[in-house]
Amino acid sequence: MNWKIKAAMLSAAVMIAAPAAYGGAAETYGKQCASCHGKDGKGQTTMGKKFKALDYTTAAGQKWSDADGVKVILDGKGKMKGYKAKGIDEAAAKDLVKYIRAFKK
Ligand code: HEC
Repeated sequence: MNWKIKAAMLSAAVMIAAPAAYGGAAETYGKQCASCHGKDGKGQTTMGKKFKALDYTTAAGQKWSDADGVKVILDGKGKMKGYKAKGIDEAAAKDLVKYIRAFKK
């Protein structure tokens, strides 16, 4: 296990202890992510359907690790561009992953 994953797990543990406010994740998500992933996390937007975004309200749509999610948010994958260049840092990416996890409940 590399240090990045360890660091991710450590801060995830710290975040669980903190009140679940997700930082500014809700606002960021609404502005920068909902166009594809949907305000409800289902990915049923025009772009989400086109790019086959997952449905985050289902178990199948959550089958990726927190570390993978952070990496995709920062560096991008497939049709999704990385958001590191748009000012989202690792801590913000982790908050976004937490926010996305909460769609399934
Ligand atoms: C242009 C549409 C688009 C936007 C905008 C977008 N995404 Fe994505 N996102 C995708 C697609 C498509 C994938 C699947 C990539 C793949 O596996 O090829 C993805 C994958 C992900 C994943 C990895 C898990 C998964 O669903 O495969 C996370 C986490 C994620 N996005 C979060 C975000 C966050 C947070 C934002 C806003 C900062 C965002 N996305 C903005 C299209 C988008």
